[in-house]
Amino acid sequence: MPVAAALVAVFVLGSSASVTAAVTRLTPEAPPPAVAAPEPSESPVPLSAFIEPATADPAPPPLAPVPATDLPVVEQQVAGQDLCADPAVTSALAAQDEAAVIAAVGGIDPFRQTVVTGTAPCLRLDDPNLSWVVVNKIRPFAPIDWAPGSVVFPEGVRNLGEGALAPEAAAALTAMVSAAAAAGVGEIGLQSAYRSYTTQQTSYSVQVADRGVEGADLVSARPGHSEHQSGLAADVVPCADGSCGTLDDLAATPQGAWVAEHAWEFGWIVRYQEGRTDVTGYAPEPWHLRYVGPEIAAAMREGGYTTLEEFFALPAAPTYAPAG
Ligand code: DAL
Ligand code: ZN
Repeated sequence: MPVAAALVAVFVLGSSASVTAAVTRLTPEAPPPAVAAPEPSESPVPLSAFIEPATADPAPPPLAPVPATDLPVVEQQVAGQDLCADPAVTSALAAQDEAAVIAAVGGIDPFRQTVVTGTAPCLRLDDPNLSWVVVNKIRPFAPIDWAPGSVVFPEGVRNLGEGALAPEAAAALTAMVSAAAAAGVGEIGLQSAYRSYTTQQTSYSVQVADRGVEGADLVSARPGHSEHQSGLAADVVPCADGSCGTLDDLAATPQGAWVAEHAWEFGWIVRYQEGRTDVTGYAPEPWHLRYVGPEIAAAMREGGYTTLEEFFALPAAPTYAPAG
């Protein structure tokens, strides 16, 4: 994720049933700070509905994480290689060129299995500069208030909250929204994108005031734990005839169906899927797209993975670690 220009200021206002976001870059030509359109209310479905045991989940069981001991073929391919000393890998990492890193490792399957087995410590899942970063309730940003070096507004996308994204995510959203329109499913708008640590503090505290801590934790990440802080997450809404619906509207629209089926083609995944609260810790959010890059998105699709945690054989993160 090349760094271009500094993001200077971000703020968000929220109400008891909504979260709003706005991004301002203090350049001479930048518009004055603007308050985003409010995010719609979350689902009225009782929170307990999202905490079903895995056995009650009608969806097919997720693929089991691949234990390191089950990877003899690729391990043989990478065994003895010091990938972290390979100039092709190190230069690609230095350039924050994820596709080149994956290619240098030998492709997405060796990449994934190298990460899973931990044989190349330089392939870290905790670097938010890289699109494969995994952030969840037990994997906070470090430092906790980390911010991307730059974010940009996606071109050609109706931007309801002046949402900005990491540059490659912004380009991928532009491509996805354009493809959806070309496919005839209608317009997709951007409701919320990058949110700073302090923005998320506001968002989360609004949810706590509205739902209590247990309820808030199912719909909003605590500050320092939201994918929105990476600049790699986009909340999208359906639009038609010059106006847009809510986040909650998305799933029942042609745009929502198309996103669920095609987002991966543009490097996006639906991060918080139905029936996966046991792993993600969040109620389903069909609108919350996470940019992971085309290689990982395609591999997850092909392998039937519905969570990043399972793709990388990481522990489930249904709750926060106990304080202290
Ligand atoms: N709503 C998602 C979980 C967030 O706050 O990042
Ligand atoms: Zn979101």
